[in-house]
Amino acid sequence: MDLGLKGKKALVSGSTRGIGRRITEALLAEGCAVAIGSRKQADVDKALAELSSKGTVVGSELDVANAESYKAWIAKSAEQLGGIDIFVHNVSGGGGMEGEKSWYNVFETDVMGAVRGVEAATPFLKESGVGSVIFIGTTAAVETFMAPMAYNALKAGLVTYSKQLSQALGPANIRVNVVCPGPIYFAGGAWENIEKHAPDMYKAHLAIQPNGRFGTPEEVATAVTFLASPAASWITGVNLIVDGGYTKRVQL
Ligand SMILES: NC(=O)c1ccc[n+]([C@@H]2O[C@H](COP(=O)([O-])OP(=O)(O)OC[C@H]3O[C@@H](n4cnc5c(N)ncnc54)[C@H](OP(=O)(O)O)[C@@H]3O)[C@@H](O)[C@H]2O)c1
Repeated sequence: MDLGLKGKKALVSGSTRGIGRRITEALLAEGCAVAIGSRKQADVDKALAELSSKGTVVGSELDVANAESYKAWIAKSAEQLGGIDIFVHNVSGGGGMEGEKSWYNVFETDVMGAVRGVEAATPFLKESGVGSVIFIGTTAAVETFMAPMAYNALKAGLVTYSKQLSQALGPANIRVNVVCPGPIYFAGGAWENIEKHAPDMYKAHLAIQPNGRFGTPEEVATAVTFLASPAASWITGVNLIVDGGYTKRVQL
């Protein structure tokens, strides 16, 4: 299937490693030009060097929790690529349990990052004609998971926000969707850390997976790539769960 991504311009925040990095690689493989960014310029430079043989990729330092930094990165990336067709808001403040500090951190990063990011990207997405926004959520937003915390509750807020955005931006031919991964295992990732430091918890969550394994970043990247592409032209306002059956609710 031709996803229609050749020559499209995509921005992926938080893309030097983990899921964002695999989304970048999948988009490059489909012929997109991609802008990457994370908090350390040295990591961005290293990723650029590793990715440059795979296609057109640009990148610079960015802190999604900082309003000016995110807006400046989006403007600079759009200038470098010559526009924006796809905007993937991937960064999260994570699952901290430090009371209000964690709430404000996740609010600034996950929620206000999404709000500010879409605001800054929208003028470019309007020019695209096939604009697409993807927020990376989590299954922790749709079923009870571990403890009451900002990460779960505020990622849930992104789902409602994306649905309303999909209505507001539909007339400008901009689709807005969420991809919610379940546990995703990769070297250096959160679940490798849990495996090392909380093996009982790791085993308990693995036991919930019907096929006995966690997901891979590539499996999330494939879903994001399709949903972001013109091939998904009639899909907007959805929350796509990518979890291999980890969650148990019936999604009516
Ligand atoms: N891993 C999972 O099992 C899982 C499951 C469900 C949902 N998710 C979601 O998937 C997304 C990616 O998670 P991941 O596991 O791939 O994370 P990760 O391995 O920690 O990678 C995060 C990436 O974002 C960058 N980053 C972190 N904070 C940033 C900030 N404030 N500004 C700019 N860049 C920043 C990191 O680089 P620096 O730290 O150097 O800046 C890195 O490149 C998140 O939204 C997460 O909630 C993950």
